[in-house]
Amino acid sequence: MSETKIILSEHEIPKHWYNILPDMPTPPAPPLHPGTGKPIGPDDLKAIFPMALIEQEMSPQREIPIPDEVREIYALWRPSPLFRAKRLERVLKTPARIYYKYEGNSPAGSHKPNTAVPQAYYNKAAGIRRIATETGAGQWGSAMSLACQMFGLECTVYMVKVSYEQKPYRRSMMATWGAEIIASPSNRTNAGRAILAAHPDSTGSLGAAISEAVEDAATRQDTNYALGSVLNHVLLHQTVIGLETKAQLAKIGEKADVLVACVGGGSNFGGFAFPFVRDKAHGDKVRLVAVEPKACPTLTRGKFAYDFGDTAQLTPMMLMYTLGHDFMPASIHAGGLRYHGDSPLVSQLVHEGVVEAVAYHQNPVFEAAVTFARSEGIIPAPESAHAIKGAIDEAIRAREAQDARVIVFNLSGHGHFDMAAYDNYFAKRLEDFELPQGDIDDALKNLPRTGA
Ligand SMILES: Cc1ncc(COP(=O)(O)O)c(C=O)c1O
Repeated sequence: MSETKIILSEHEIPKHWYNILPDMPTPPAPPLHPGTGKPIGPDDLKAIFPMALIEQEMSPQREIPIPDEVREIYALWRPSPLFRAKRLERVLKTPARIYYKYEGNSPAGSHKPNTAVPQAYYNKAAGIRRIATETGAGQWGSAMSLACQMFGLECTVYMVKVSYEQKPYRRSMMATWGAEIIASPSNRTNAGRAILAAHPDSTGSLGAAISEAVEDAATRQDTNYALGSVLNHVLLHQTVIGLETKAQLAKIGEKADVLVACVGGGSNFGGFAFPFVRDKAHGDKVRLVAVEPKACPTLTRGKFAYDFGDTAQLTPMMLMYTLGHDFMPASIHAGGLRYHGDSPLVSQLVHEGVVEAVAYHQNPVFEAAVTFARSEGIIPAPESAHAIKGAIDEAIRAREAQDARVIVFNLSGHGHFDMAAYDNYFAKRLEDFELPQGDIDDALKNLPRTGA
């Protein structure tokens, strides 16, 4: 009988992160200063990030060593298991072999601690006392609260208001790890107050919460900012996922034909897929599929253009797929996928045809989540269920073509704090929100003029 779980030992936790920058098909465009419009340098980021992370953001080195202190904490849940989804294969009657990498076994329940821990480590080493950050679904805020607790840092989390209300237990979790949690938009910052003045009933957005956290960090000496996705150093830290997956597939003599992961800001997708992009550049035929919600279709309907990472235009402008920095997505349950932009690296790979992107409505995504839970047991996070839907569609196409392809997807987190969303799905209360083209056109009217 073939194995159900492919497990690595602790000494096989990667010793290096994989930096895709030297292997990008074309060099990425530089981020631009929000005020001057000129390419930014390390000094421009010093007010909110420690130098070690700024260097990683721009490093030309292919392999970046993982500090022992970080590997020691990784060992609490890493290496994470790779499962063969035999029971799902049977339900789908597919000749495909389906595998999933499971990141829900971290203490916070998702892939997010893979970068929260090194970010807390480098901030602590730089003498920082406090971290300000934002959270959409609550996963990133939980991860950063955990990591700050482990390194003795204070943590303030600006939580998108809709999630703050929908997910009270995510708040409890962050409080257990000692964090302060604030519903965003809030009255604590100029950015929050401006949004509330214009939209008193705003349920918030990731772009707005980022503005609040950046402002908090930029206005206090003892505080830095931490971002849970999008930036190069975040995707870099997440490559432990793909590096382990490669080793696990090699261990059982398998080779992926298609890799699938969901995309919010791009960190679980990048971390999972980037170590395989290099093989693709050397002639490997592996397909890389990024999955997003139709209610926030950044990669499939957004524009590849320079834009701000946040609503208040405090962050550098990045060349990425965007729906416009003041885009307010509908309150779908996959809160972690409601971001107007995307990682510049993932965006560029989509733009150049290296990565494919698909979008789904939330009802078929929950249907896939339930099919998965009823066959494999794990109840997935709504974000991760987008990848399941993508993988199931691949497996059905494999059945139709009678093709025994190998499908590997990243199950980025469990859904134990998302049961209200499942209840709404069972009660048929979920709406499939098709974004009108007019809304996208309106939001794109405010893109910054950069001449690029
Ligand atoms: C479980 C889970 N998966 C995926 C994501 C999407 O984020 P990213 O694209 O950075 O991986 C989130 C974001 O909160 C998440 O909570």
